[in-house]
Amino acid sequence: MIKDKVVVITGASSGIGAETAKLLASQGAKVVLGARRVEKLRALTNEIKVAGGEAVYRVTNVVQPEDSVELVKLAQDTFGCIDVMFLNAGLMPNSPLSELKTDEWNQMVDVNLKGVLNGIAAALPIFKAQKSGHFIATSSVAGLKAYPGGAVYGATKWAVRDLMEVLRMESAQEHSNIRTATIYPAAIKTELLKTITDPQSAKDMQQTYDAYEITPDRVAKVVAFAIDMPEDTNVNEFTVGPTNQPW
Ligand SMILES: NC(=O)c1ccc[n+]([C@@H]2O[C@H](COP(=O)([O-])OP(=O)(O)OC[C@H]3O[C@@H](n4cnc5c(N)ncnc54)[C@H](OP(=O)(O)O)[C@@H]3O)[C@@H](O)[C@H]2O)c1
Repeated sequence: MIKDKVVVITGASSGIGAETAKLLASQGAKVVLGARRVEKLRALTNEIKVAGGEAVYRVTNVVQPEDSVELVKLAQDTFGCIDVMFLNAGLMPNSPLSELKTDEWNQMVDVNLKGVLNGIAAALPIFKAQKSGHFIATSSVAGLKAYPGGAVYGATKWAVRDLMEVLRMESAQEHSNIRTATIYPAAIKTELLKTITDPQSAKDMQQTYDAYEITPDRVAKVVAFAIDMPEDTNVNEFTVGPTNQPW
C-alpha cells in the first residue's frame, strides 16, 4: 500500500527523485523531500500540494550525517512516523582514472556511498524499533557492469548494491521486517550528465543518452511498485532502462 505511507526521498529536487515524489504523492503518500537546492524543493512541494498531495522539504546535504537525521526527524515531527527511506541522491562526474580528478572521486564516494550510509544510519534504528520499514536505493547499471570512464562512479554503485543486499539479509535474520529494494537505472533523462566535467566523457555520454534516454517517471513507477507490494513481500532488484539500449 502506498496511501498514507511516509516516504523520505533524498535527491528529490530533480530527475528520478522529483518524479518519484510526484507519483507517490499522487497515490496518497506523504513525501519528505531532501536535497541542496531550496528553490527546486520549494517549487516541487508547492506543485505537489496544489495537486492535492502532502509534502514537506528540508535542505539536506547527504554528506553531512546530521542532515539525514534532521530529514528523518522532519518526517516524524510532521507526519508522526517514517515508512520508506528512498536513498537516491547521487552524481556522476565520469572521467578516465588517468585524468586524476581526485576531488570528483572523493565527491562521488561522499555522496553516492557515504550519503547512502548516512541515510541508513538515520532511519535504521527507527525501522528496527517499529519492526517495519523500507529502504530503497538508486544504484545504477554501472553498479552491475563496468565501463571505461565510470570507474569511481561504478565503484560507488557496486558498493551500494553490496550493502543493500547485506542489509536485506541482516534484516531478515534480525526479524525486523525491513524491506529493501535496489534500483539499477540505465539512460534516464535527468540533470545527471551536468555533473560531468571531463569534455570527452561528457560528449560520449551525451551521445548515448541522446540515442536512448527515457524519462524518469519510468523509474518512479518501479519505486512505487516495490512500495506497493504486501508488507510480507520484498521485491529487491530492478534494472530499468530504455528497451533499445544494449547496456
Ligand atoms: N539518470 C540516469 O541515467 C541514472 C542512471 C543510473 C543511476 N542514476 C542515479 O539516479 C540517482 C538520481 O539521479 P538523477 O538521474 O535523477 O539525476 P539528477 O537530476 O542530477 O538528480 C540528482 C539528485 O541528487 C541530489 N544531490 C546531489 N548531491 C547531493 C548532496 N550532496 N546532498 C543531497 N542531494 C544531493 C540533487 O539535488 P541538489 O543538487 O539540489 O542537491 C538531485 O536532486 C543518482 O543516484 C544517480 O546516480 C541515474
